[in-house]
Amino acid sequence: EYIKVFAPATVANVACGFDIFGFAVDHPGDVVEIRRKPEPGITIEAIYGDEGRLPTDPNRNAVTVVMLHLLAHLNITDFGASVVLHKNMALGSGMGSSAASSVAGVVALNEMLGSPLTRKELLPFAMQGELMAAGAAHADNVGPSLLGGFLVIRSYNPLDVFNISVPRELYCTLVHPDVEVNTKDARLILRNEVSLKNAITQMGNVAGLISGLMTGDYNLISRSMVDVIIEPVRAILIPEFNEVKQAALDNGALGCSISGAGPSMFTLARSAADAERIGKAMKHTFASAGISSTSYVSGI
Ligand code: HSE
Repeated sequence: EYIKVFAPATVANVACGFDIFGFAVDHPGDVVEIRRKPEPGITIEAIYGDEGRLPTDPNRNAVTVVMLHLLAHLNITDFGASVVLHKNMALGSGMGSSAASSVAGVVALNEMLGSPLTRKELLPFAMQGELMAAGAAHADNVGPSLLGGFLVIRSYNPLDVFNISVPRELYCTLVHPDVEVNTKDARLILRNEVSLKNAITQMGNVAGLISGLMTGDYNLISRSMVDVIIEPVRAILIPEFNEVKQAALDNGALGCSISGAGPSMFTLARSAADAERIGKAMKHTFASAGISSTSYVSGI
């Protein structure tokens, strides 16, 4: 028995929605292959594309940690499988790299077991991979990678998520500069307190972004893609952040912010052509400072 699953990269936070907004892109994404084996236990047979950096111990790799949690939940002790993981995005890129592996892993295993759980029911298990990889069980990468589209995490306890519709012609540009940001560190530098003034501004933008996306009001989307709480703190981790953001806005981006914990930056645009042009301008700006980058254009 053999199963192969693709899980997409994701843009978490989407400017104003720290830990509560995320959307899936078409590509890149990770691929997990699992093959049943007679001996019980989950083993990692091979990992490609990680430059040998990810642990092959099944208890320490997100792709298998999620599987072990699912098996424990289902009280299955005699199941055996070997796993091959294809990493198609850089680690610590801010594109939901660990999330894509966790999601592909848990979906593949669930499928092999005859789909005892629904996609939505798999979410808490996929979150266990994030807890291990990022030190926090945030759902804004695993959620959209698992369920697709634009996802809102209304509540973590109890877990309550829903999708919203977005305009069909909305495109995303993701630009990944060749620097690494560890999600754990990028969370540790955040302050625990938020001023009332900033909370009010952020809530206004959260409401505006949701309404703008659901009604296709591009002007409102644009005005609402503002983060006054997280971005100002994390921007220092990304070289040329302000210049690259300005280049995106000058080239017609509706907004531009950090993708997840960074260093990737994302923009939303009204067409694929706009998104391509914006990506070139952002890459060019990084390159002017001697930083190479990779860009991806995708529908949402
Ligand atoms: N919401 C998480 C964070 C996403 O910003 O830390 C990490 O990709």
